[in-house]
Amino acid sequence: MTETTFAPTVLVQPTAADVAQQVAGVFAQAIRAKPSIVLGLATGGSPVGTYRELVRLHEQSGLDFSNVTTFNLDEYVGLGAEHPQSFRYFMRTHLFDHVNVDPSRTHVPPGVADDIAEAADRYERAIDRAGGIELQLLGIGSNGHIAFNEPGSPRDSQTREVSLTPETIAANARFFDSPDQVPRSAITMGIATILRAKRIVVIATGPAKRAAIGRAIASPPSLDCPASLLQYHRDVTFVIDHEAGHAESTSDGVRSGN
Ligand code: PGA
Repeated sequence: MTETTFAPTVLVQPTAADVAQQVAGVFAQAIRAKPSIVLGLATGGSPVGTYRELVRLHEQSGLDFSNVTTFNLDEYVGLGAEHPQSFRYFMRTHLFDHVNVDPSRTHVPPGVADDIAEAADRYERAIDRAGGIELQLLGIGSNGHIAFNEPGSPRDSQTREVSLTPETIAANARFFDSPDQVPRSAITMGIATILRAKRIVVIATGPAKRAAIGRAIASPPSLDCPASLLQYHRDVTFVIDHEAGHAESTSDGVRSGN
């Protein structure tokens, strides 16, 4: 039996700054429409501009995070919340410390736990208890990964510990003093966890993402490119800049979805 796939909506912006502004606008509108929304959040270079813009909207327009609940995609195994390269630390630095979100409503998978498998199951249940993720922000790796779901990750995968590929370790070494310091494993939401979100927005900027974007939106879904599995979701929007753009993307902003 063949399964239904959906063409994602692709919005192409001139620059990364325009991408950040558009994505922040989507999130701000969702928060205003439902102040108790459950958001899925991402780390890495891609969402930094979006978080900066959300902080600005909080400061200048009173965007209210006080009833928002957040779940981050992933965390390095072995890094505690105080480690400057941990994703919990990243979220505090770029967003949480600058808006009025209630820290007890912010969730990042634990990088340090007696039993990571058990902590991963608990994380999955916490998402369900909160009512599920309504709007999920995603970056994409140059190898097509989403969160730390590397190529080959099963479509039915849940939150779990995974090994990072050499390509991902090399890509993330820029945040550490040396590549040896990059953790070799992570705790990450699975593909199935991500596909359960009601609505998904993917950010990609720069030429290093062009090949992955092309495969994600224009090739049939394949485990070799985890982002292509997003075609099984009916409400995915890619917001990308020209440099990450695929030949089929239009330059006036929209390639239609369905
Ligand atoms: P980046 O990473 O935003 O730092 O490029 C994206 C990702 O690996 O998901």
